This record gives sequence, structure tokens and C-alpha cells, in this order.
Amino acid sequence: METLITADQIHQRVGELADEIERDYPADDEIHLVGVLKGGFVFMADLVRAMSARVTMDFMAVSSYGKGTKSSGQVRVLKDLDSSLEGRNIIIVEDIVDTGLTLNYLQDILRARAPKTVRTACLLSKPSRRQVDVQVDYIGFTIDDQFVVGYGLDYAEKYRNLPYIAVLGE
Ligand code: IMP
Ligand code: MG
Repeated sequence: METLITADQIHQRVGELADEIERDYPADDEIHLVGVLKGGFVFMADLVRAMSARVTMDFMAVSSYGKGTKSSGQVRVLKDLDSSLEGRNIIIVEDIVDTGLTLNYLQDILRARAPKTVRTACLLSKPSRRQVDVQVDYIGFTIDDQFVVGYGLDYAEKYRNLPYIAVLGE
């Protein structure tokens, strides 16, 4: 497997994103991160550790893919959030935005819960694959149309534990 983004590059970029997020919200505002399992868990863990004590977090699990590498367009909520979003500044934390279908669906259902603000942070974006125009406020890296694994991202549930991002070879 070929390394696309090294652990050092990810570490530096996640720190930059955390700083950017901290600057974008008034100092007295709380920030509630909504991590999307499973793919977003590594990014979330590093992002929150680069942020200040005003951050809180919750997780939900969705499934948009089967075992393969193609989007079915179907999104299922497998685990919902524990706490209400009403009146909160929320940031959806995702591993990757590909077609945008998953994120588009998530933004819709979370906006319906009356948060004060909704933003989205994605470690990776593949703009050439987009099928819906979805807003992503914080993007770690923009990549070409290739299937990647590591740092939370899987192929058939494997490789999530790689500390770097790699292109899945043959
Ligand atoms: P979308 O709905 O097509 O934007 O797909 C989003 C989800 O598909 C992501 O949250 C990932 O779980 C998965 N996904 C998309 N591209 C990749 C990839 O290159 N590697 C691993 N998972 C991916
Ligand atoms: Mg995901």
C-alpha cells in the first residue's frame, strides 16, 4: 500500500484545523462535536485533544456503504446521539466526504433538532466525486478520486488503525 498522507502531515493539519475552529467561535461559546462512527473516530480523538476545555462531544453511527468501495446512496442511523442538540453550536466530524450523500443526509436530520449553528469538519474531501452540493466548513486535505484507508478509514472494516492515510492497492 502506498502512503498518501503521513502521520506527521495529519498531525500538523489537525492542529491547524483545531486553531481555526477555536478562532471562529466567540470565546464564551461552547462547541459540541458530533463524531460520525466509525470512520471519524481517529480524527475526532486527535481534533478534540488539540482544542480547549470548552469542547464537548457525542457520537452517532451511520452506515452508508456495504463491504465494498461503492456508495449505495443509502444511509442508515445505527446509533443515535445521547444528548439534545437544541441551542448548541455543533460541528459534525466526518472522516471523508465523497459523493456527499451521507453528509447531506446527516446535516438535514441534525438541523431538524434545532441547534444554534451547524458546521462540518472532514479530514478528507474528494470533490471530483460529489453528487450533491454539501457545505463542508473545515477540510483537512483534498484528494483525487482514489480509495483510501487508514486513520479511521476502512476497507471491509480493516486498516482503520493505520496512523497514516494510504491508497488501497490491488
Ligand atoms: P459519501 O456518502 O459518498 O460522501 O461517503 C461517505 C462515507 O463513505 C465516508 O464517511 C466513508 O465511510 C466512506 N468512504 C468514502 N470514500 C472512502 C474511501 O476512499 N475510503 C474509505 N471510506 C470511504
Ligand atoms: Mg464515514
